[in-house]
Amino acid sequence: RTINFTLADGTVRTVEGADGESLMRIALGNDVPGIIGECGGELSCGTCHVYVDAQWTGKLPPQSADEADLMDMMDSYRPEASRLGCQIRACAELDGLTVEVAPDN
Ligand code: FES
Repeated sequence: RTINFTLADGTVRTVEGADGESLMRIALGNDVPGIIGECGGELSCGTCHVYVDAQWTGKLPPQSADEADLMDMMDSYRPEASRLGCQIRACAELDGLTVEVAPDN
């Protein structure tokens, strides 16, 4: 599936990921700068933070309480757009998803 990552400098990196693979893993596998994934997807680091493009937010699965709690503590949290990349997985519905890499990862 195609995922578009908008980087801090405004350029867009378009990469491919397999179904079921998280945005964090896809970013790491494609050397997308700004996504660290320090905790390996265990919902404890917040270094996979992305802002989801407005046209896609309604298609995402809902946040778990743990994801919401962690993001709540982040300075760059934007309620309408913030998600953790380790909690979003590539699938047919999200093919072409566009997210911006958050600045504080
Ligand atoms: Fe640590 Fe997502 S990789 S919270």
